[in-house]
Amino acid sequence: MLSSTTLAVPVCTDVPRHLAIIMDGNGRWATKRFLPRTAGHIRGVQAVRRAVETCGKLGVEYLTLFAFSSENWRRPKDEVSLLMRLFIQTLEKEVTKLEQQGVRLRIVGDLSPFEPRLRELIRSAEQRTEHNNALNLTIAANYGGRWDILQAMRRLLLAHPDLANNPDALDESLLSEHLSMAYAPEPDLFIRTGGEQRISNFLVWQLAYTELYFSDEYWPDFGAPEIEAAFEWYRTRERRFGRTSAQVAKPI
Ligand code: IPE
Ligand code: IPE
Ligand code: MG
Repeated sequence: MLSSTTLAVPVCTDVPRHLAIIMDGNGRWATKRFLPRTAGHIRGVQAVRRAVETCGKLGVEYLTLFAFSSENWRRPKDEVSLLMRLFIQTLEKEVTKLEQQGVRLRIVGDLSPFEPRLRELIRSAEQRTEHNNALNLTIAANYGGRWDILQAMRRLLLAHPDLANNPDALDESLLSEHLSMAYAPEPDLFIRTGGEQRISNFLVWQLAYTELYFSDEYWPDFGAPEIEAAFEWYRTRERRFGRTSAQVAKPI
């Protein structure tokens, strides 16, 4: 799907077609309660379930959740292995429900460092849900925006070796076709919970014209009312895409 916000002005609807979330604050949620950080990650999975249901009800077409960044390997070994175990358990438990809810699941990121069992669960979950079309759920795991641009570049050069001698022929759409989320429109709304105001190497290319919403709530506390409040805020934004206000009010 090619719908670049820099090449053409997209149609904007009241509910974002594509919502991308950095689910941050699990560790602090737990620490505040004198619990181990792992307890926060477990509660974080419940919040994912709620977000999927809420977005399905509100008519979001694409929901993309950042679950593990390419930089998260820098965390203590115990925390990384808990996160991997949780990922495996969640796939084992939740896929049947996603199938019934009509959710199509895709995982994006560099899956090569994951253990074979996890890679197999990912493959089967994607296959089992590939005919669903109620909500497109993408989990970004071992994902980095810079990795995505680089892997797109590598695949592009393999597909068009001639480009190396003719770099002027390279344009935005040629490259973006090879990004790992080429099947989705660019996000309309980005939410980051947990109080930080940064992108942390998430969808670096695709967030070019996304509305950015930051919430102080920790991810485990982020439920339907908080998602609705973010959508309410989104409705008040004037998405100009380079044009003036007057042009937006009265398209020419
Ligand atoms: C987000 O919560 C989950 C992952 C990165 C896996 P954090 O674990 O980053 O929580 P804080 O930011 O330390 O509170
Ligand atoms: C970003 O959260 C990644 C995910 C939510 C998966 P982090 O908590 O790791 O981000 P930084 O490193 O503090 O920016
Ligand atoms: Mg964090």
